[in-house]
This record gives sequence, structure tokens and C-alpha cells, in this order.
Amino acid sequence: MEQAVSKEEIRQLSLEARREGKRIALVPTMGALHEGHLSLVRAAQTRADVVVASIFVNPTQFGPGEDFEAYPRDLERDMALLSAEGVDAVFTPSADAMYAPDAQVTVDPGPLGELWEGTSRPGHFRGVCTVVAKLLSLVSPDVAFFGEKDYQQLVIVRRMAADLDFPVKIVACPVVRDPDGLAVSSRNAYLSPEERRAATVLYRALREAETLVCGGERDGSFVEQAMRDTVESEPLAVLDYAALVDPRTLVRVAEAPGARAIIAARIGATRLIDTMAMPSSV
Ligand code: PAJ
Repeated sequence: MEQAVSKEEIRQLSLEARREGKRIALVPTMGALHEGHLSLVRAAQTRADVVVASIFVNPTQFGPGEDFEAYPRDLERDMALLSAEGVDAVFTPSADAMYAPDAQVTVDPGPLGELWEGTSRPGHFRGVCTVVAKLLSLVSPDVAFFGEKDYQQLVIVRRMAADLDFPVKIVACPVVRDPDGLAVSSRNAYLSPEERRAATVLYRALREAETLVCGGERDGSFVEQAMRDTVESEPLAVLDYAALVDPRTLVRVAEAPGARAIIAARIGATRLIDTMAMPSSV
């Protein structure tokens, strides 16, 4: 497995693969790798000749008071995991290598960036779009892989690639969960044992919504209320939002079937998000 730390190195690596007529996949990550990340790597391997992963804890997508400093970092472990998966190259730039000190142009995510996560995390999606645009420009992949877990991020990255004419196919991968349903996340490491048990409430709320829709419930606000009630039954959880939205525009919908359920809650000091597609016809 090759490691590139500078922009020049990753460009060169990608250029060489392209010259050899190889199809390139990109899997962007912030490290602290888990089964969710590895599912993206495995999907990438089925769709490309060369898989490039990036590990970069992107400072511009963290707001003041968020967990940028505390974010888990273990490059050695991450490299071993990627190498064991057969990844071809890893891009591990420093923040200084990635951003010039006088950098000032960023990518505006547009109105989608203001909704849901954008309300609690102003500027977050500008940071995400800017770094993803830079990674797409440096690696020029044919395909790039994103998890549905961060559903709003996926929708915004798709829009960005379409609106800014990046010649890349964005592929979505399903949410990987622990056996009790909790979506795996690097941030789960912050949870105490008691909080870890309470954290399944996000999945329980989504399952409650799914069960209602499967049973013929069509009223979006009724289903949303049921999700809220589930979260409120958990003393350690503080709900941020639980909504049924249009899968592409992320605007709240009245009709539950075919909607995308999105949920965010704090468990102690840790903010968790999750999502599930609602069945479309029952
Ligand atoms: P990170 O949180 O490390 O996630 C990297 C990718 O893994 C994202 O596409 C995310 O949706 C996916 N992922 C995380 N947990 C998952 C799970 N349980 N199931 C499936 N996929 C999962 O998202 C980011 O990093 C950053 O914002 C990034 C896109 C790298 C830009 O900095």
C-alpha cells in the first residue's frame, strides 16, 4: 500500500494509474476507522481497479466548541486496517499541506447546507464541500464512496458534484450497525457504558417509524411524533430533530411512505445522527 502525504504525491499517483487506463475509486474519511468505513472500501473494490482512501481530520468542518482536538486519531491502526483490506493508496495530508495559510475560497453548499445538521453546525457543510472538492480535484476518481449514515452530507456532495460538473459518480453505501442497531461511528467511542446502552434509542425511533409505515400509516407528522416520543422515553437522550424528508431535497414531507427518516440526538455530551429509508409502498 502506498502512502501519499503531499498533494504532489497523490496527484502523481493518480495520474500514473490513469495513464495505465485504471479506474480509480476514492473513499474519503477522517480516520478512526471502523466497519462503516471498511464497508465503503469493500464497495469501492468491486467498482474500481485502484482504491484510494484519504485520512484527514478536516479542521474546516468543525465549529468552535466541537470535538476537533478530541477527535480520535490513530494513523498506525488505520493504515494497518486499510492495508489488510488491500487498499492501493492512502492520502494522509497534514492540515498545513492541505490548506495554504492564505486560502480564502470555499465551496458554498447552498440552501441544503442550512437545513437540519446545518442549523446545529453552521459552516459544517461549507467545510465538508470544500475539502471534498479538493480531494476530488487531487485524486480525480471515477467513483467516490459515501455512507448513507451521514445522509445530508451524501445529498449535498451529490448536488455539489452535479452542480460543479465533477466527472465523478457518487456511490451511496448503507448504514453499518452494531448488533443492537446503533450505527457505528467514530464518536461512539465517547459514550460511557450507560450512554452506549441509551444510544440505541435513535435506531429504536427509526424502527418505530418503519413499523408504523409498514403497517399502513401515511401521516408524516404522526410518524415524526412517534419518533420523538421514543427518544423522549430515554432519560439520557436529548432530541435535536426527528423528521421525515424528501430523499433528495431534504424538505419535510407530509407523506410518510417513500420518505427518508433522519434523526439527531445528544446522548450526554455526544451528538449522534442516524437515518432510515421508509418503505414506499405497502
Ligand atoms: P467520516 O466521519 O470519517 O466518514 C467517512 C465516510 O464513512 C462517510 O461517507 C460516512 O458517511 C461513512 N460512514 C461513517 N459511519 C458509517 C456507517 N456506520 N455506515 C456506513 N457508512 C459510514 O464523513 C466524513 O468522515 C467527512 O465529513 C469527510 C466526507 C471525510 C470529509 O471530511
